[in-house]
Amino acid sequence: MRIKPLTGAFGAEVTEIDLRSGLSGKQIRAIETAFSEHVVLVFRDQDFDIDSFEVFAQSLGHFGDTPFITPVEGHPNVVRVLRERDEEGPLFGSGWHSDWSFQTKPPSATLLYAVEVPDEGGDTAYTNQYLAFETLSDSMQKLLDGLSAVHTAERSYGPGGTFGRPDPDSSMNIRGDESAVVRQAHPLVRTHPVTGRKALYVNEVYTVAIENMTSAESSALLKFLFEHSRQIGLTCRVRWRPGTLTMWDNRVTQHFAINDYSGSRREMYRITLAGEKPN
Ligand code: SIN
Repeated sequence: MRIKPLTGAFGAEVTEIDLRSGLSGKQIRAIETAFSEHVVLVFRDQDFDIDSFEVFAQSLGHFGDTPFITPVEGHPNVVRVLRERDEEGPLFGSGWHSDWSFQTKPPSATLLYAVEVPDEGGDTAYTNQYLAFETLSDSMQKLLDGLSAVHTAERSYGPGGTFGRPDPDSSMNIRGDESAVVRQAHPLVRTHPVTGRKALYVNEVYTVAIENMTSAESSALLKFLFEHSRQIGLTCRVRWRPGTLTMWDNRVTQHFAINDYSGSRREMYRITLAGEKPN
């Protein structure tokens, strides 16, 4: 297995490994170590069907719970992230977010496998939320550590949200409902259970408030933290090819599906792995 950093900040491309081949314990541990270090891993030239994709995912953890999206038939833990060439509605994943951060136990990792990608465009961008925390001043770190932030899926999947009503023209069967209005508090600064490093845990799509602050204080501080997190030096960007599998640590990243490929088709398979309650 060969590992080449993607940027000076984080992310790595992994080659010379066949993830379908029935990995040894040693290989799994090497992947886990690389994952802890690089946060986003991009495996090139993989040849998965849905079954083998599931087998690989399960070698790293248990499946997470995927709400609001109808999964692939016969594969309740796999979602097809699909955009046909003529589609115009809102693009799934196109806003800075951390997957399902509104859940009590949000997923630890997400695995996205590219079946068909545009010749140009359709990249996914990532922030590194360890670096977002570590590049704040000591005073700001002290202020944030110990605060809780409120997450909800309401603006995306609630009745009035972006995906609140079934869209007959969308090739993804996304069905928001009333359950999306639930609010979930999480520590604003979380500690990674494996690395012990602290990371900023907020995102613009799902984080709506900071507890025990006035609305003006909370909005201003969140706006600052969102902008701070996505400054270019704290990001990396993945250019997809068919057969690319990218796996990101959802606890310490945000990501953004870039909507710049109108007229092209993009098809991916996505699995999340179960996580723990942030602390
Ligand atoms: C997602 O947000 O999980 C999808 C990202 C992508 O389609 O690039």
